Amino acid sequence: MGSRMLSFTIILLCTAPILSYAVNPDWSAWERSKWRRSSSSSSSTRNVPPEGYYSPLAAGGSMLTLAQNTWPVGQGEPLNAIISGNSDERVLQDKEEDGGLRNYFLSFGFAGECLGQHVGDHQAADLGDGRGFHNETAVIRWNYGDPQLGTCKETIQGGNHFRYWVQDGPSANSGAIFMATSYEKSLDEQHGIVQNGYNLGRDWLVGNITGNFIDTPNVTDSTTFTGTTSWSNYTYQTDIKYVSGLLQNTNIGINHNDSVSVNGMNASDGLVAVLLVKITETPQQASASWTLSPPQFWQLQLLSLLFLSPLLLS
Ligand SMILES: *[C@@H]1O[C@H](CO)[C@@H](O)[C@H](O)[C@H]1NC(C)=O
Ligand SMILES: *[C@@H]1O[C@H](CO)[C@@H](O)[C@H](O)[C@H]1NC(C)=O
Ligand SMILES: *[C@@H]1O[C@H](CO)[C@@H](O)[C@H](O)[C@H]1NC(C)=O
Ligand SMILES: *[C@@H]1O[C@H](CO)[C@@H](O)[C@H](O)[C@H]1NC(C)=O
Ligand SMILES: *[C@@H]1O[C@H](CO)[C@@H](O)[C@H](O)[C@H]1NC(C)=O
Ligand SMILES: *[C@@H]1O[C@H](CO)[C@@H](O)[C@H](O)[C@H]1NC(C)=O
Repeated sequence: MGSRMLSFTIILLCTAPILSYAVNPDWSAWERSKWRRSSSSSSSTRNVPPEGYYSPLAAGGSMLTLAQNTWPVGQGEPLNAIISGNSDERVLQDKEEDGGLRNYFLSFGFAGECLGQHVGDHQAADLGDGRGFHNETAVIRWNYGDPQLGTCKETIQGGNHFRYWVQDGPSANSGAIFMATSYEKSLDEQHGIVQNGYNLGRDWLVGNITGNFIDTPNVTDSTTFTGTTSWSNYTYQTDIKYVSGLLQNTNIGINHNDSVSVNGMNASDGLVAVLLVKITETPQQASASWTLSPPQFWQLQLLSLLFLSPLLLS
């Protein structure tokens, strides 16, 4: 009896650290990272060309979205920014944890919609990846420096915002993220687009990443910038390259083209900002997420021995 009690106490002492893993939140982080490793190997069908995306035009897709209730019917908005499929794998995951896409958006002042409520019509896009036209993944708004409620202000007063789609269909799975960026008017003005609002929306978003104002008329198809942004102790380096040949420099077919084009400039200037994103710093705890080291094989052996010993001793 005495030796049984002793064994029981020893078992408790030895299992305590292991039991604590079960309640330790780091355990779930470990589980998640395991899952992520296995899921990224299963998504190995992702095949990224050197430029980081497939041109939607190559397979019957479009670089213009399809907006609802337009006049004439069928007007769209330019997909004027792309997050390259060659970006850090973590940035291409649509989530806020682990330095994901939503955390990257927060790093340059953009967040999901006010209190999670969608305002306005959905738009559809066909990225030429075999999925056809489908509605945006989400609408993201400039948060006026307030990550909690700033996007509510954007919804009411207007400001910069974008819809995005992921190029992940079976026939062109680059994982690239296509964004339709524009600077919109207030809710009172039915969220129309300000003059030159597509080109400005793209360049002000790029300016938010680089920290320097971008002069839209100066941007050409050989313009490059680099910017560094951080959120939740993840630091992102974004290399930005403007490219031509995807969008057209035109007014034709662009939503609100009667009011957006200004001084002879087309509503779409024909340029797309391609963002290649790397994570250069991660939070301390992500690299050392074990507060206790994981159970070693010898500890497990000892544990099974101790479980057996009361039987042996009785
Ligand atoms: C896409 O959005 C439109 C209009 O907002 C809606 O009518 C339609 O049901 C949506 N489609 C899907 C598949 O959710
Ligand atoms: C950041 O975005 C806001 C809203 O679009 C814009 O007013 C501001 O000029 C941008 N900052 C830079 C440096 O471009
Ligand atoms: C844009 O170009 C004009 C004319 O070349 C120049 O004077 C101006 O400084 C440029 N603006 C920026 C922000 O580089
Ligand atoms: C970021 O790191 C600092 C210490 O370097 C720490 O105090 C802070 O809690 C961290 N913040 C987040 C959101 O991880
Ligand atoms: C505007 O677009 C038309 C094609 O729709 C093009 O012919 C014209 O040159 C463009 N204007 C400018 C200023 O680039
Ligand atoms: C806007 O685009 C439509 C085609 O969808 C075209 O008929 C119209 O002339 C354009 N308007 C302007 C002001 O360029």
